[in-house]
Amino acid sequence: MKSLAYLNKYIWKYRGRILLGFLFILASNIIQAIMPSKVQEAIDQFTFFIAQYPNVDSKEIFYADNILPFTLNIILIYMALALLRAVFVFMMRQTIIILSRLIEFDLKNEIYDHYQRLHLGFYKENNTGDLMNRISEDVTKARMYLGPAIMYSINLICLFTVTLVFMLDKSVELTLWTLIPLPIMSILIYFVSHTMNKRSERVQNQQSKLTTFVQEMFSGIRIVKAYNRQEEAYKSFQNESTEYKKRSLKLVLINAFFMPIILLLIGLSTIITIYVGGIKTIDGDISYGDIVQFVIYVNLLTWPFASIGWVTSIIQRAAASQERINEFLKEQPQIESGPIQATNLKGRLEFRNVTFSYPNDNKEVLNDISFVIEPGKTLAIIGRTGSGKSTVSDLAARMYDPLKGTILLDGIPLDNYELSSLRSNIGYVPQEVFLFSDTIANNISFGIENGAEMDRIEKAAVNAHIHHNIIDFKDGYSSVMGERGLTLSGGQKQRISIARALIREPKLMLLDDCLSAVDTETEAAILSNLKEIMSNNTTIISSHRISSIQHADEIIVLDQGKIIERGTHQALLNKKGDYFSLYKKQLTDN
Ligand SMILES: Nc1ncnc2c1ncn2[C@@H]1O[C@H](COP(=O)(O)OP(=O)(O)OP(=O)(O)O)[C@@H](O)[C@H]1O
Ligand SMILES: [Mg+2]
Repeated sequence: MKSLAYLNKYIWKYRGRILLGFLFILASNIIQAIMPSKVQEAIDQFTFFIAQYPNVDSKEIFYADNILPFTLNIILIYMALALLRAVFVFMMRQTIIILSRLIEFDLKNEIYDHYQRLHLGFYKENNTGDLMNRISEDVTKARMYLGPAIMYSINLICLFTVTLVFMLDKSVELTLWTLIPLPIMSILIYFVSHTMNKRSERVQNQQSKLTTFVQEMFSGIRIVKAYNRQEEAYKSFQNESTEYKKRSLKLVLINAFFMPIILLLIGLSTIITIYVGGIKTIDGDISYGDIVQFVIYVNLLTWPFASIGWVTSIIQRAAASQERINEFLKEQPQIESGPIQATNLKGRLEFRNVTFSYPNDNKEVLNDISFVIEPGKTLAIIGRTGSGKSTVSDLAARMYDPLKGTILLDGIPLDNYELSSLRSNIGYVPQEVFLFSDTIANNISFGIENGAEMDRIEKAAVNAHIHHNIIDFKDGYSSVMGERGLTLSGGQKQRISIARALIREPKLMLLDDCLSAVDTETEAAILSNLKEIMSNNTTIISSHRISSIQHADEIIVLDQGKIIERGTHQALLNKKGDYFSLYKKQLTDN
């Protein structure tokens, strides 16, 4: 339950609304409790009238002088009360349910904002489904606590207090008898709703398993067809689907118990009221109308009491959900922003004895790496797969902090810079291209606040050697990419990703193996375009191919996180070491 305390700040924020909601609930319940007393009044009055005219026809009694006005009067009052109550019930739902929606909105925004500030490592440790569930389903469950649970709880307390006052006023003994079955009902309903919730959770789990399965199979339909796995896929689907059916049927069974239990206990209460009330009427302790009034009260109290069980179960689930949400909210961003604004940088980048391993992994991915890139110069990194090339780029973009050693930009350690100002100086082209389901133009101008003008976008595209492809598409720069949109080749995607970095005109350019999917001719074209741009900024370019990097000012050869050779292309060739053998091999391969 403690986890729900997190929501108190929001409850406090909307305290005015809660107070208003409470007043509406109180008003509607007072009216609701008055209404049965009008029924009682009517019944007792009619019994009285009938007793006054023992031998007269019923129609005549009805039209006797004082009966008609009384009847009309009581009908009008009753209708007015019903209408007023309806208005208050409407207002109560409007205030409290809206309150829960407002808090849901705030909470979702808070979680999303928090997610975005978390470090990259967090996303490696937690899967996307988990992140999505906590911001959607778990928030929904927390909302059920804020809306219905709070509303029904206040409602129960109000209604119970108000009706109790009315009932005790009539007869203390009959009140006690009438109330006996209600707590039993609450407990029973609690068990039924608890089981219901557990089973519905199992249904939901199976449902999400089914969805994941279908999604994966159809994203990978090309592989499924090529390897002829349709039959097996269908069988697996059927198994999962059968499990779903089984779980749903179990849920239906327990659902079916809900109403009968309530009806049974209302029946029990009513019987007790009529029996005990009957004896008391015969004894002359209470009137006919009083029994009817009690029966109505029993019925009124049934739903609130039934809701105790239901509400308890909602609160338990909300607490579990909120606990999951809190777990992520407690997570602190490990990459903290520093005080210095990164403006007017020259772009001198230095790695000083940098050693690094990924979080939760002891393996040293980089070991004592040192290099300096002077402003406007280019450093190239070449090495086998897994040697640590991408890791160098990630560290330079401050996606992670080094374990040992320092990375300095213009002589100042990276962690002293204000993070967003630092990143706005960086053009990062990751190895794995990611494009958003949006137009090509928007993908290219993604890193520019408020978007960029068309000529800037085109210039970047020309430099990335993709402009001529884009204008061939039917919708040109407005072509939408993604599932239902344009499908680009690997090389085309890479070049859009390069354009996205170029348009920012960054001080520090990180090109991580970003030419792997283009042919050597295109590569040469891009490199010659980049040459001029790269002379204005500091660049790290990594690659498997010597052709991509041979013109760099310095080349380092990485092997298992260590620098094994360094120098210019010519110097490295003269050395006749690993670089030279790689060069020879790639020459013969081509
Ligand atoms: N998020 C991560 N968590 C743990 N280990 C990682 C992570 N990312 C990379 N590694 C490990 O770090 C090492 C270096 O990876 P890195 O991606 O830097 O290599 P690379 O030289 O870029 O390889 P490639 O040429 O295939 O792109 C590899 O052994 C890899 O398994
Ligand atoms: Mg890599």
